[in-house]
Amino acid sequence: MVIPESLLEALEKARSITVLTGAGVSAESGIKTFRDPDGLWSQFNPAELASVDGFMSNPELVWQWYQYRRQIINNAMPNAGHYAIAEMEKLFKNFVLVTQNVDRLHQRAGSSKVWELHGNIIDNHCFNCKRPYIGETNLPDKQLPKCPVCGGLIRPSVVWFGELLPFEALSAAEEAAYNCDVFLSVGTSAEVYPAANLPLIAKRSGAFVVEVNPNRTAISHYMDVCLRETSAVALPKLIEEYKKFISD
Ligand code: APR
Repeated sequence: MVIPESLLEALEKARSITVLTGAGVSAESGIKTFRDPDGLWSQFNPAELASVDGFMSNPELVWQWYQYRRQIINNAMPNAGHYAIAEMEKLFKNFVLVTQNVDRLHQRAGSSKVWELHGNIIDNHCFNCKRPYIGETNLPDKQLPKCPVCGGLIRPSVVWFGELLPFEALSAAEEAAYNCDVFLSVGTSAEVYPAANLPLIAKRSGAFVVEVNPNRTAISHYMDVCLRETSAVALPKLIEEYKKFISD
């Protein structure tokens, strides 16, 4: 894979760089994506499992599905793509990382500031009173934990379809897309809004936009450069070539 010189030049000149990641960046950690042919939505129904209505109609099923996903994520390790993004934070000034992922592999790879647009799968809170829940989650007979304060059902702190995104994260992400000189869209199908708007905000604001994805996506035709490679291969290569470029 060749890194175009235009991208290396844009990175060198950039006053600020923003990266948006999606499920593809965790694929090489063994975590399924959502819309790939073998993705989660080919096996499960998102309306049933990742929505408020789904939780209200069958809270046990939704809770167990998240427990199943948590187990996979707890056993997963960050991959070279996560580590490369963590290194970018040190390499580039004014670097902002925005993720749609809930697996916290960016943080485990060393990224210190991560704007999580879709919440995270590690934490839980009460469906009723919204208080954070830090009690036991592995109850006998797969029971659903209950809020010790109001008795409400406990749910994972992910953003479900139809729910509002966390205001602070979305505002920070939009500002970072608007203000950056280089925007990298990594491992996302760019099909879910408002996250999918971010690369377009960057493009319209004059940023050099890059897609890192082995496949074409809904926004590929807007990109200045498309690295048709997996993120675990492309991102370390990008950093290696950038370091050579600035040392020449
Ligand atoms: N490296 C880079 N990209 C990859 C890799 C890889 N190894 N493997 C797959 N991809 C790409 C796929 O080509 C696809 O374009 O990652 C993208 C994954 O797309 P989705 O499965 O749609 O995941 P994402 O874009 O993160 O979905 C956004 O939708 O279901 C909701 O809340 C969920 O945050 C998620 C949101």
